[in-house]
Amino acid sequence: MKGVLLAGGNGTRLLPLTKYMNKHLLPVGRHPMIAYGIHKLRQAGIEDIMLITGSKSVGLYAEYLENGRDFGVNLTYRVQEQAGGIAEALELAQGYIRPGEKFVVLLGDNLFQDELKPFIQKYMGQPPGTAMVLLSPTDRPHRYGVPVFAEDGSGKLLFIEEKPINPRSRQAVTGIYMYDDAVFDIISRIHPSERGELEITDVNNLYAADGRLMYDILQQWWCDAGTFESLQEAAAHMKDVLP
Ligand code: G1P
Repeated sequence: MKGVLLAGGNGTRLLPLTKYMNKHLLPVGRHPMIAYGIHKLRQAGIEDIMLITGSKSVGLYAEYLENGRDFGVNLTYRVQEQAGGIAEALELAQGYIRPGEKFVVLLGDNLFQDELKPFIQKYMGQPPGTAMVLLSPTDRPHRYGVPVFAEDGSGKLLFIEEKPINPRSRQAVTGIYMYDDAVFDIISRIHPSERGELEITDVNNLYAADGRLMYDILQQWWCDAGTFESLQEAAAHMKDVLP
């Protein structure tokens, strides 16, 4: 199984830090943020990883991670020429993923404690052409993708609302996604959102509309370290996670 680690975007919520430094290279505890995503994939036994970032930063990642050997992984880099959204970045992994191959996507600013392995094992048992998202309880659902569940008690995920003003659950869709190569066909069917980006939530909603989106829930701490406050919180949590 392969991993795709997304480390692009403009990081505007972290200005001025991100004026000169890509968000995912900012320090979290003793390491640049990206080290934790690599660690999580490696811990789940995933060694082949594609890292996708912008042209301004790709050299910094190559300096820090090199070919990945010192981190126990085998890295391939791909450049997203402009920040066109998570789904646009993910599309760049087409060709890296073999026909029928399943893979994990991590947003590089998502830091978490759970091990990925049990979730991956569950996803491996799902039929081809299905996807899985991981949820986490949150006090601030309006900042994230928020699942809407069926009211019949079945727990079925009907669709996801992106940053809703009136969230209909207190779960966040985290930046941990599992797909197979069918996702590239789905991405080709979506259109840019109002902010001009190809949204991962639109991709997941096409899966959901077909009853092909499964979910599970993280049991431990999770954070999207995309704001100054959450970056501070992440630093405190991750202080001793990696030597
Ligand atoms: C993205 C997704 C959102 C998800 C979040 C998790 O939002 O669009 O659905 O909940 O990542 O970190 P962004 O942080 O890019 O605004």
